[in-house]
Amino acid sequence: MSETAPTKRLYIKTYGCQMNVYDSERMADVLAPLGYGMTDSPEGADLVVLNTCHIREKATEKVYSELGQLKRLKAEKAGMTIAVAGCVAQAEGEEIMRRQPAVDLVVGPQAYHQLPELIARAHRARGERLAADFAPEEKFDALSTERRPSGVTAFLTVQEGCDKFCTFCVVPYTRGGEWSRPPDAIEAEARGLAEQGVREVTLLGQNVNAYAGEGGLAGLVRRLAKIPGLDRIRYTTSHPRDMDEALIAAHAEVPELMPYLHLPVQAGSDKVLRAMNRAHTAESYVRLIEKIRAARPDIAISGDFIVGFPGERDADFEATLSLVREVGYASAFSFKYSRRPGTPAAAMPGQVAEEVKEERLHRLQNLLDEQQRAFNGAQAGKTLPVLFEKTGRHAGQLIGRSPYLQAVHATAPDRLIGEIVSVRIESSARNSLAGTLALELA
Ligand code: 5AD
Ligand code: SF4
Repeated sequence: MSETAPTKRLYIKTYGCQMNVYDSERMADVLAPLGYGMTDSPEGADLVVLNTCHIREKATEKVYSELGQLKRLKAEKAGMTIAVAGCVAQAEGEEIMRRQPAVDLVVGPQAYHQLPELIARAHRARGERLAADFAPEEKFDALSTERRPSGVTAFLTVQEGCDKFCTFCVVPYTRGGEWSRPPDAIEAEARGLAEQGVREVTLLGQNVNAYAGEGGLAGLVRRLAKIPGLDRIRYTTSHPRDMDEALIAAHAEVPELMPYLHLPVQAGSDKVLRAMNRAHTAESYVRLIEKIRAARPDIAISGDFIVGFPGERDADFEATLSLVREVGYASAFSFKYSRRPGTPAAAMPGQVAEEVKEERLHRLQNLLDEQQRAFNGAQAGKTLPVLFEKTGRHAGQLIGRSPYLQAVHATAPDRLIGEIVSVRIESSARNSLAGTLALELA
């Protein structure tokens, strides 16, 4: 990595999931040796990268409107290069080039390690499009396992892609088939992070619990838990199908594995689950959650939901509400079904009217909000270990995370950033907890 001072300004805007956050960081890493240093505004930047998301129509549309604004900035700044990366680049590269001539290059999620070369080419002749083949191993071979983390928590990609083909989802097409990084490379990256003060890693994958390296995800977690300084491990996101006994046992036995699990169910009606090609039923999901809770009783469960999938009737939606009531979620993400070109569900009969989706989403979110408040409220009076990550908005305040991924505010000195400290929880809101340090500090 170059130690020279940056001479060019790089602005990266990240949309979508945590894997895009990881990818953006790695793009900055590969561009640093070329003299690019990060800036937090696109104005005056030499290189602007939009790292895009294709999951729903809205996310995709945002990219085109952002590009319209960048076009004006580019007109004012000679030599600005605009690159579109991520899943929209992969899915609609040619369309981007056609619709927005200000774009200099598009690069898919498996090819961003080639950015330096592409930028050089784009500077010679405009209009490069790199069609990324799905070759994540090439990308990871090209990326160094050395990183410069910016805080005490970090994301670490261990798996990419998806072979599940849920009928609503573009991921198998934009990110390709399931692929797992070798454990040695992951461990090297994790050790490097820990040596630089990272206390918590979140292992990322589109189907992270399908991690196929030796020992599976459970084996990887046990291995990483031995790294000195690395005290907290999380992983996201998982499919119910791949939640095996070994991983459930790890939740019972590995103290570093945090008691929080994002396990999307999407819907509570078996008819809808079948049409989604989810390969599980509402019942089998609920039983699975029971098993996980038997192993780790305090585990916080989070999920993803889609309302208004084609063919979803009122009774199907009611089944989703009753599944939510039965499971009890600590947090959740819920979405209106978005018709994605090229996916099987886009062509299914029984597309649901927008107002119906709207109304169902509202009802579901009310219930999920209520559950989240109840979960947060139940922490009051408890003492929780909090990893402090950064200063808060108020003077003298720090913000950290509980084991259950709740944001926790407390009055505490800055030197506790990066420390795991006992905090007595005094109050809660929908999105956070507040407390005081449980021990008088010397
Ligand atoms: N419409 C709405 N939500 C979707 N998701 C994936 N595809 C779609 C779609 N076409 C949601 C799922 C998934 C999350 C990442 O995004 O709930 O778990
Ligand atoms: Fe999409 Fe389903 Fe794969 Fe998740 S498991 S990425 S929802 S196809």
